[in-house]
Amino acid sequence: MADVVLKNIKKSFGNVDVIKGVDLDIKDGEFTVFVGPSGCGKSTLLRMIAGLEDISDGDMFIGDTRVNTVAPKDRGVAMVFQSYAIFPHMTVRENIGFGLTIAKTPKAEKDAKVAEAARILQMEHLLDRRPSQLSGGQRQRVAIGRAITRKPEVFLFDEPLSNLDAALRMDMRMEIGKLHQQLGATMIYVTHDQVEAMTLADKIVVLKDGAVMQAGAPMDLYHNPDNLFVAGFLGAPSMNFLIVDVIALTDDHAHVHSPVLGDITIATKGRQFTVGQQATLGLRPQHLSYVEATTAQLSGHVTLTERLGSETVINATLSDGTTLIAAIAEDQEFRVGAEIGLRFDTTKAHLFPELPTTTGAAH
Ligand SMILES: Nc1ncnc2c1ncn2[C@@H]1O[C@H](COP(=O)(O)OP(=O)(O)OP(=O)(O)O)[C@@H](O)[C@H]1O
Ligand SMILES: [Mg+2]
Repeated sequence: MADVVLKNIKKSFGNVDVIKGVDLDIKDGEFTVFVGPSGCGKSTLLRMIAGLEDISDGDMFIGDTRVNTVAPKDRGVAMVFQSYAIFPHMTVRENIGFGLTIAKTPKAEKDAKVAEAARILQMEHLLDRRPSQLSGGQRQRVAIGRAITRKPEVFLFDEPLSNLDAALRMDMRMEIGKLHQQLGATMIYVTHDQVEAMTLADKIVVLKDGAVMQAGAPMDLYHNPDNLFVAGFLGAPSMNFLIVDVIALTDDHAHVHSPVLGDITIATKGRQFTVGQQATLGLRPQHLSYVEATTAQLSGHVTLTERLGSETVINATLSDGTTLIAAIAEDQEFRVGAEIGLRFDTTKAHLFPELPTTTGAAH
């Protein structure tokens, strides 16, 4: 088993800087998930750890070894891709054992390792089938099985479940979680799926434009985002952003004003503001509740509702044209066009010095 440490890691393709100085400390046995918008460098970073891309600058360690120039096969890593890269003309047994065959592993040892991988993945009964006789989830398990037989220190997964349908994704997500518990190996996992990230990760790394925006435990990032980008990126529906004016400051609170909201006082959580500046108030949809117009902090008109059974998502437009999304934890009918009053607990709101337009975080 092994730690993975990245020190000021950079990658350029020609004169395009794709990874711009990433520092990460991934502990032995930790499940780390990379998330971020398309093109932010998740796969590139993973491929650099695997040794499939050269490192332009910085130092990378797996265990105690600096691996910058170590060949992929000697790094103790195994990678599982989105497209499962299994061979149609080979049986499941031959596919799982493929890496061992290439490495000329003695037959008895190979058989034992394939059997163990099949047992862990509960596919012993499928060993003699060919990929065409398997479901998508089973095919992906073959690819994971091949990775397991290599007994890697570090598993690297690049969106391994994104070709599967929703139900199968959920099953496989749980299986990958179990696999991590059973093997105790270090795992680094790239996904676009927030639920996968939140449920599997010990640590989430949020990337944007080749740089780390924040890294930490899922609930830390959710409850205490460092910046507007992370605030808007994690959570569904996305956090609402309201532009406010900072009108007074104390040691740890800001008094802010906006025409639609009036005045409120909110914790600054160590962030720096100046009186007179504009700032962004962040409100999670789940933290907005609907109330009578007389006690409302915010009022608007319902423009769209989505009844999901367990939850009702309301889009409301405020008098200044801002759209707010509220997620009410019950089934409730709201008529489009109706007036709605909303309240929130100011201790659960966030205040950021940046504005959405300058960060591109609003969506
Ligand atoms: N071989 C290459 N040559 C030039 N540019 C590349 C190369 N590979 C990747 N890039 C660029 O590097 C950036 C990061 O790509 P990468 O594949 O790491 O993104 P990603 O975060 O995995 O995106 P996605 O979520 O879409 O998979 C992109 O702008 C991409 O166009
Ligand atoms: Mg990618």
